[in-house]
Amino acid sequence: MSEETVTEKKVAAVVLAAGKGVRMKTSCPKVLNKIMGMPMIKPLLHSIKKAGIDKVVIVGAEDNKDALAPVVAPYPVVVQDKQNGTADAVLAAKQDLIGWDGDILVLFGDTPLIQVETIEKMKEAKKTADIVLLAFEKTEPNCYGHIICSDAGVERIVEFKDSSLSERQIKTCFSGLMCIDGGKVWDWIAKISNNNASGEYYLTDIVKVAKSEGAKISMVTGHEKEFLGINTLQELAYATKVVQEHYRKKFMDNGVMLIDPETVYFSYDTEIGSNVVIEPCVFFGTGVKIGNDVVIHAFSHIEEATIADGASIGPFARLRPLADIGKNAHIGNFVEIKKSTIEEGAKVNHLTYIGDARVGKGANIGAGTITCNYDGFDKYHTDIGEGAFIGSNSALVAPVTIGDGAIVGAGSAIAKDVPADALALTRDSQVIKKGWAAKFRESKKKQ
Ligand code: UD1
Ligand code: MG
Repeated sequence: MSEETVTEKKVAAVVLAAGKGVRMKTSCPKVLNKIMGMPMIKPLLHSIKKAGIDKVVIVGAEDNKDALAPVVAPYPVVVQDKQNGTADAVLAAKQDLIGWDGDILVLFGDTPLIQVETIEKMKEAKKTADIVLLAFEKTEPNCYGHIICSDAGVERIVEFKDSSLSERQIKTCFSGLMCIDGGKVWDWIAKISNNNASGEYYLTDIVKVAKSEGAKISMVTGHEKEFLGINTLQELAYATKVVQEHYRKKFMDNGVMLIDPETVYFSYDTEIGSNVVIEPCVFFGTGVKIGNDVVIHAFSHIEEATIADGASIGPFARLRPLADIGKNAHIGNFVEIKKSTIEEGAKVNHLTYIGDARVGKGANIGAGTITCNYDGFDKYHTDIGEGAFIGSNSALVAPVTIGDGAIVGAGSAIAKDVPADALALTRDSQVIKKGWAAKFRESKKKQ
């Protein structure tokens, strides 16, 4: 390709995800291990989509294709029969690219942090090159392919396993993204051999092959943290830390007060309003939406829950899926809420389990109350009306309805509906024996 030639072709992305992930040592396919609550291939697909890539093919393996397919849908999964290396994996996508006259952007499913702008930069650089590599300057001790350059530009990539000590000193490394001329890619891949330390067909060898045929190889560079390749649980933990830091900063910039930021964990989809305080040691699973003026006290665990304006949660609260906490409601310590609506201003402050229930506006749930929602087979609903008062240590045996304004006496086991404004009590009447305790002590002293 001459220097002056500028062409913009369509781009198809081939995302490699067939690797066995042996270094990861988890039971699920490597690219389905979660980062911030999301399978790690997902954020990459999101960036690909936003960058306006015209076609996407995912390369999976026979033993992970069924797990991959629903996660990557609507994109198709093609199967690489044997995991013979990254070049062989790209070849597996050829069947889905017959007749494709655009370029091929190869991405690795284990580099989840790639941003849209980076893919756009690659597309732009491809206009004047045959191959574009995405590179970074390595500072961490992770193992990557090293990019060998001469005065004539990029010459080849040497994999860590195959590199000499001096080659390992080269800090410029390959991120895993490569945009290749669609007209030549299959021809070049066919010329790659597996004569290396792993006995695999390395995609990275395409650089050497193309260079020997006079191709123009360009490099786009970016920051190492964006290109972290995740092969081990340690690398996953490190990448998670990098993203968590980003989220913490983003929330603090938006006026969310984090008293001890490093102890608060968000998911990729956590939504938080303004004037919210989050105390130390709080975990947000996926699907959490928090309104304005909310306080989340220390040591709370929250997932798939909605918290409206002015609510106070914790300390030591657990909000499980479909907990819907209304405006100015209070959820206190050692309280667990599951699939329940706690309406405006209601209070559930101490040592309580509320599951499959509605707690009406302004109701007060005493310490130790339990909604007995499960009989070992099925779940049943408890309905607590507006302004109702449930005395401490009550068991509400579902299905059961407590009417508006009703009072349940402390220590009751309620299995029948309670009408509005009624008192329900299931306690035995109290026995008083005057002077009994004093006499008892005296008798014990004489023994
Ligand atoms: C690869 C690159 C390395 C680069 C690094 C960036 C090669 C040979 N090496 O190394 O230069 O610095 O990524 O993170 O390309 N895969 C398949 N089929 C296979 C083998 C791998 O689909 O037969 C997939 C894996 O699932 C993974 C991706 O390709 O998503 C990369 O493979 P991996 O084994 O992680 O390569 P690295 O050793 O990280
Ligand atoms: Mg990798």
